Amino acid sequence: MPRLPSNELFRALAKTQSLPPVDKNHKKAFGPLSTPERLLLGPGPSNAHPLVLKALGQPPVGHLDPFYVDLMSEVQELLRYAWQTDNRLTLPMSGTGSAAMEATLANTVEPGDKVLVAIKGYFGNRLADMASRYRADVKVIEKNWGEAFTLDELEDALKKYKPSILAMVHAETSTGVCQPMDGIGDLCRKYDCLLLLDTVTSLGGVPLFIDEWKVDLAYSCSQKGLSCPPGLGPFTMGPRAEEKLSRRVEKVPNWYLDVSLLNKYWGSDRVYHHTAPVNMNFGMREALRILAEEGLEKAWERHSSNAQQLWKGLELMGIDLHVAEELRLPTLTTVRIPEGVDGKAFSLHLLNEFGIEIGVGLGSLAGKVWRIGLMGHNSTPENVDRVLSLFASELPRFREKTVCAA
Ligand SMILES: Cc1ncc(COP(=O)(O)O)c(C=O)c1O
Repeated sequence: MPRLPSNELFRALAKTQSLPPVDKNHKKAFGPLSTPERLLLGPGPSNAHPLVLKALGQPPVGHLDPFYVDLMSEVQELLRYAWQTDNRLTLPMSGTGSAAMEATLANTVEPGDKVLVAIKGYFGNRLADMASRYRADVKVIEKNWGEAFTLDELEDALKKYKPSILAMVHAETSTGVCQPMDGIGDLCRKYDCLLLLDTVTSLGGVPLFIDEWKVDLAYSCSQKGLSCPPGLGPFTMGPRAEEKLSRRVEKVPNWYLDVSLLNKYWGSDRVYHHTAPVNMNFGMREALRILAEEGLEKAWERHSSNAQQLWKGLELMGIDLHVAEELRLPTLTTVRIPEGVDGKAFSLHLLNEFGIEIGVGLGSLAGKVWRIGLMGHNSTPENVDRVLSLFASELPRFREKTVCAA
C-alpha cells in the first residue's frame, strides 16, 4: 500500500474528524529550562547528591522491566537498613512525605477508631487533620512549640483516651525538636495501641530504630536526609499494624495508597498497580546506597557534629537558639530572630545575594525563628562555615536598619 506523507495523513484525518482550529493563546515561546544554583539550607528540600542527580537522569526503563524489578528490591532492602527494620511492608509511596503520612492513616484507621495525636508543632496538626478525614475519633494532647512529651504525659493520655493508635512526630521540622523515644513503644504495647511515627526530618540524619523502638508504622520523605529530590514517601508497616489492616471491615478508603494493593506490585507478584515513577526510584536507590556506603553511625555522627558546630557559632555571636540543647535536632535548627530584625527580609537577602536558602518560621513560630537545615549531603563543616560567616557579615546591617528606622 502506498504510504501517505505524514502531513497529508494528518490533513485527511482532520477532514474526517472536523477538528477545530488550535487555540494558540497559551502557546508561549519560553527558552530551555535553566535552574538557579542554590544551597538549600532550609527545612527541605535539601540539595540532591550529584550521584543521585546522575541516577535521575538515566533513561527510563519499563516499570515491570526485570532490571527495574530488581532495583525495587534493592530500594526496599536499603530502606529497611536506613530505618533499622525487618518490616516486610517497606516501600516508597509515589508521592511526597504527606502521601506516605496519609498512607499510614488510610490503611489503619477505621471510622470511629480513637487516634491520639501528640502535637508539638505544625506537622502534628497535619496528622490530626488527616486522621479526622478518615473519620477517626481524634484526641489530641499538646505541648508548646519547642518542647517534647514526657513518658508520664503520654501514659496519662493513653490511660485516659485508650486509643487504638498513638501518632506523633519524631523530628518536628517546624520547631527543631527531636522527641526522645525511649519507652514509648513499650507504653503503646502496654495500652494495646499502635505507635505511628513521622520520621520525615530524621531518616538518614538522626538515630532511628523502628523495630527496637517498637514503632508499628512510619513514613518519611526523599528530599531531606536522603539527598534526593522531593517525590517519594518511604513507608513502613510492622506486623501489629498489618494485623489491624487484615481485620478491617471496610476497604481502605484510598485506592492509590492501599498497601495491600501496592504490595502486589512491591511484593513477590509484581502485578501492575500504577505506572511507577521509575526515575525517582533510580534516584532513591542511589541515595540509599550512598547512605549505606557511609554507614548509619557515621552519617548520624556527621549530622550531630556539624549541627553542634553551627549551634556553637551562633551562640558565640549572641544569637539564641529556640530549643534546649538536649532536645535539639541535628538536621534542623530553629534560631530566634533577634529583636527588631525583619527575619523574612534577611532570609530573602541571603537567597537573592548569595543563593542560600534558609527557612522562616511556620505557624506559631512565624516571624519568630529562622529554620536552618543541615541534612544529608548538605551537612558539612563547609556549609556551616558559610552560614556562620554570612550571619556575621550580613545580620549587623539588618540590625542597623532597624535601629536607624527607629
Ligand atoms: C515533619 C514533617 N512531616 C511531614 C511533612 C510533609 O512532607 P512533604 O512536604 O514531603 O509532603 C514534612 C515536610 O516538610 C515534615 O517536615
